[in-house]
Amino acid sequence: MYSKLGYSRSMSTRRRLTTKLRSLVRGGPKVCCSVEIQKEPGDIGALRARGEVTLPVRILAPPRKRALRKLREDFPILQQRTAGRPAVYLDSACSSLRPTAVIDAIDSYYRSYSGCHGRAQHAFGTATTAAFEDARRTVGGFLGAKAASEIVFTRNTTEAINLVARGLDWRQGDAVVTSDLEHNSNLLPWQDLAERAGVEHRVVPTRPDTRFDMDAFRARLDPRVKLVSVLHSSNLTGVTFPIADIAREARRVGAMVLVDAAQGALGHDLNVDHSGVDFLAMSGHKALGPTGTGVLYAKRTAQDRLTGMLAGGETVTDTTYTGRTLGPAPYRFEAGLQNYAGIIGLGAALQYIEDVGQRRIARHVRTLNTLATEQLGKLDRIDILGPADPALRSSLLTFTVRGIEASDVAWLLSQGANVMTRAGKHCVHAWYNARGQAPAVRASFAFYNTPEEVEFFCWTVKDVLRAYPG
Ligand SMILES: Cc1ncc(COP(=O)(O)O)c(C=O)c1O
Repeated sequence: MYSKLGYSRSMSTRRRLTTKLRSLVRGGPKVCCSVEIQKEPGDIGALRARGEVTLPVRILAPPRKRALRKLREDFPILQQRTAGRPAVYLDSACSSLRPTAVIDAIDSYYRSYSGCHGRAQHAFGTATTAAFEDARRTVGGFLGAKAASEIVFTRNTTEAINLVARGLDWRQGDAVVTSDLEHNSNLLPWQDLAERAGVEHRVVPTRPDTRFDMDAFRARLDPRVKLVSVLHSSNLTGVTFPIADIAREARRVGAMVLVDAAQGALGHDLNVDHSGVDFLAMSGHKALGPTGTGVLYAKRTAQDRLTGMLAGGETVTDTTYTGRTLGPAPYRFEAGLQNYAGIIGLGAALQYIEDVGQRRIARHVRTLNTLATEQLGKLDRIDILGPADPALRSSLLTFTVRGIEASDVAWLLSQGANVMTRAGKHCVHAWYNARGQAPAVRASFAFYNTPEEVEFFCWTVKDVLRAYPG
């Protein structure tokens, strides 16, 4: 980092200068900085003893030690009422809610040390650099990356996918393979590439219940395939693709693999070492983190094959009027000043998820989905999209109601009961259009939802059916 910044003075000279400066400014303004750290009491004691913490300090038990129901208290938005009713938020697949730990991390950047990453030699700058790089390490750990430098920050999943679509060295005759269940963000970049560079876009059909079809996939692989880009978990039906198997097959023909893990961060193992993928894209806002934050994991060997999408500050170590020296990864992919507060919040979010525990999250949403499926699946006028077995749909229940349009159902649930779901084609228009499938209602469950909320949602759907006989 420091060599990147071009620091030249030796440490001993800098130390001497520092001591001299301190004696000069002894009478200067006092800076008071308050730090909020959520740690166990023992840790706080140790930090205090080293003089690293000043008051006030809020002491909360870590999430793994509290019941999921108690964790709802960490989400301020769940404590409020709208028009006198509590909100039943069943739209976490669109965007998750944020715990206080994330809001505090963002807040503390702006309140306590809002500087610039990398460039500064002052306290705010170094604190920003430390917190930003700490977040990168947290993300790297969350994804099982071998090095933090394999983590590139982006605005969202969409930008991360575009970075790969624009950054690889595509040649006429190359091919890219996706599935027919991809979100528009993992479809349009490849359509664009096909038009721009003559790359062939091959689409693997999924099975009728939207599960991955390995035979159909193998039939579309050959040495012309440069990249396989598939979803981890579907935002339409909740099915999960067998990523490790897909990566193994892709490697056989020398293809790289990109995973769209936008829906994977809550309740799934995204470990890239386990799956063996080259790239992974995810969004902070679906993982308890802030909007406008995302990640592209790029394996070191894959980074070597990638050029940055944007040129500008932070991507270089030196320039002349006619040339530049590109910086190392990940900085050469992160042009311009980054969303520091957001990324620091993202680090807090992924830490929070790890503390809650992916297995615990997965078990809970499966229980909720089973409950909802049992209640709604047996109703005459309801058709569930995707596999009948809720265990194969992780946190999603997407359904149509015969005789009522999806947008009317979602509107009635919201207006009548403050139950928040999502209706439409869920940015998977191509899948809907190819099948002539009507738009659907999607309920998505998270670890902060309760069985009572799911019961209430099901009762409300039944009320809608009674009010609007088919
Ligand atoms: C599977 C999938 N991929 C990609 C995206 C795009 O995510 P973002 O809008 O955060 O870039 C979404 C968003 O819903 C998604 O569900």
